[in-house]
Amino acid sequence: MTLAGKRVLLIVSGGIAAYKALELIRLLTKAGCGVRCVLTKAGAQFVTPLSLQALSGEKVYTDLFSLTDESEMGHIELSRAADLVVVAPASADILAKMAAGLADDLATTLLLATDKPVLAAPAMNVRMWQHAATQANLETLAKRGVVIVPPDEGPMACGEYGPGRLAEPPVILGAIARALGAGGPLAGKHVIVTSGPTHEPIDPVRYLGNRSSGKQGHAIAAALAGLGARVTLVSGPVTLSDPFGVKTVHVETAIEMLNAVKAALPADAAICAAAVADWRVAMQADQKIKKTGDAPPALTLTENPDILHMLAAPGPQRPRLVVGFAAETEHLFTHAAAKRARKNCDWIVANNVGGTGIMGGDMNEITLITEAGADVWPLMGKQDVAIKLAALIAQEVS
Ligand code: C5P
Repeated sequence: MTLAGKRVLLIVSGGIAAYKALELIRLLTKAGCGVRCVLTKAGAQFVTPLSLQALSGEKVYTDLFSLTDESEMGHIELSRAADLVVVAPASADILAKMAAGLADDLATTLLLATDKPVLAAPAMNVRMWQHAATQANLETLAKRGVVIVPPDEGPMACGEYGPGRLAEPPVILGAIARALGAGGPLAGKHVIVTSGPTHEPIDPVRYLGNRSSGKQGHAIAAALAGLGARVTLVSGPVTLSDPFGVKTVHVETAIEMLNAVKAALPADAAICAAAVADWRVAMQADQKIKKTGDAPPALTLTENPDILHMLAAPGPQRPRLVVGFAAETEHLFTHAAAKRARKNCDWIVANNVGGTGIMGGDMNEITLITEAGADVWPLMGKQDVAIKLAALIAQEVS
């Protein structure tokens, strides 16, 4: 990631998602970007200035009328010294103040005084997000050129469900890189990612499916976009939002997924993280199959096309790097290594799905199998797996 020498002024406003700002600072500093933080009064209810300071390595600013701060660096200078002003998380309140041009604390004063581009990653309760006032404020800000990184959809800390969760830090990082015109190591490269399950219809109301959530595939797509790649994500039915900055094609069945992948070629790399159904029902019923009181209907299955195998077959359209996944419940290495050979792919990301909570959960236990052998990764969050894998992909294809 080529953010070296760039400077971000990060405004952390109030909300439970403020803890994710810490991860964002870690990613930015790792990418070589200088980060100076401003913490609002509400933000300080959720994270401390000390943690922001420890991670950014710079003084954290909180007060508009601090004599010491003003003598060291005036509040106008604070925003002008940055290449980009980032508000993450951006609460409904700070967005409203930005839209109205209010300046009643250090953060809002900086936002009104800055001559630099501004990016905001909102996070709030779903009803606050959907409120006409918030939507109108977002429209006003977008018209003024503020880059909005939309929130994700999912379960919220308040117990409700819907859009409002802060976008994942790698996604915000990608948006920051684009806003700063930093290409990233995968700039100019096209990567296809498959993700989620497929649903194979039995009749118009029933289907065969599996427990894949798409979390790992979607996180990989977002992390690759964060490194500057043009990403086509071909996603089966999932409840996740489309990752920001990624072209997402929605499909239901394996055959639709295959067609969407073929249409997206050529690509520099293909990552097949989808849990494609191995079989589909040979004769899909046109009408709902009724209970007759006789024996239950027998389903005859037929094999689905293997998308990974098609992508990895030698030929002019073969991406330079083809990565498959192997979800195994036993003999992880032997089965995954055999799969790598059988499918002709370059790498296999093998994961042990025998433990409870891996499939559909937030953690993953990976063994990466390449020509060089097997690399066992510790148990990690799916976001971290995505970041690590995307960095390795960038090394391989850039
Ligand atoms: O053969 P198996 O389903 O165990 O292999 C898993 C790998 O193959 C995953 O990368 C998956 O995305 C891919 N796959 C595919 N098309 C299929 C079946 C699996 O792309 N029909």
